[in-house]
Amino acid sequence: MATVSELNAHSLPPSPEASAASGHGRSHAKLILFGEHSVVHGHPAIAVPVRSIAAEADAVRSDGPLDVASDDPQITARDGWQDVPLMAAEATLRRLGLPASGVHVSVRSRVPAGRGFGSSAAVAGAIVNAVADLHGAELDRQARFELVQEAERVAHGNPSGLDARTTVAERGIAFQGGVVREFDVVLGGTLVVADTGVHGSTRRAVADVRALLEREPERTGALLDRLGAIARDAERALRVGDARATGGMMDESQRILRELGVSSTEIETLVTAAKGAGALGAKLSGGGQGGCIVALIGDGDDATAVTEALRAAGATGIWSVPPAPHPSGTTR
Ligand code: MEV
Repeated sequence: MATVSELNAHSLPPSPEASAASGHGRSHAKLILFGEHSVVHGHPAIAVPVRSIAAEADAVRSDGPLDVASDDPQITARDGWQDVPLMAAEATLRRLGLPASGVHVSVRSRVPAGRGFGSSAAVAGAIVNAVADLHGAELDRQARFELVQEAERVAHGNPSGLDARTTVAERGIAFQGGVVREFDVVLGGTLVVADTGVHGSTRRAVADVRALLEREPERTGALLDRLGAIARDAERALRVGDARATGGMMDESQRILRELGVSSTEIETLVTAAKGAGALGAKLSGGGQGGCIVALIGDGDDATAVTEALRAAGATGIWSVPPAPHPSGTTR
């Protein structure tokens, strides 16, 4: 198992001989299984990398200023995080001791934005890797996390670091207060992710929960405490593939997230459809107020019935994450 000290190994500096004519970088999506929102308030959370949904970037030298281009309006025109790509490139050059100029980066992403997949972290991660690759620099995981997190602050104000940690992780992660432990997630089933088609703003959802905590500290504090306790118990279930227990905890998390005001009509419709078709558990994933839901279908249960129910209930995209310790594959 990777430990925190292993993750803190130093980065290798750029070597002029190793620097290439162009650099390439890739970084994947993430899915939060437990602890969104409560993680912002210091509680534990569990997330998994989804390696088959990724962002990619290419970096080349130029005579002009540092610039990042994309044909993808999700990246260039999305309210709230247009500055993340440039910030990721700039922070990486600064880390390498190089001026923030003379590099052109092009980026494309298959990670849908505003859906709880950590799109801004994936885009930032791909850019960090491409700029480092261009200069022949090897950044370790801790360095990549720090650079993605620096760029993420532009997108989310004060992100917990969960998205940035998961986008540089190879396995499931248990995350609390900036400390991360990787472990092999055993689902005991299949995860189906369904898109409400509604763009959710993590920044706004996090601000709404904070405002609720200020208005009703006792009730909201108790809800956040419970989400944290569930995440702690869920890690045990996910280590041994106890899908029934995991599903039950997903349902309870969803009830709490609804009380926190981060669910929506569309989320509730998809959660009800998944449960009605036999899912062991279903909840929103990520910031909420739109975005995706994730449902767990037990081994031997009918995943097709759940996907059909989700489609009939209006899901605009459906992905399936197969039952493996390394949940990297998806199908649409
Ligand atoms: C967003 O993907 C997850 C939140 O918990 C925010 C954060 O962790 O920074 C809602």
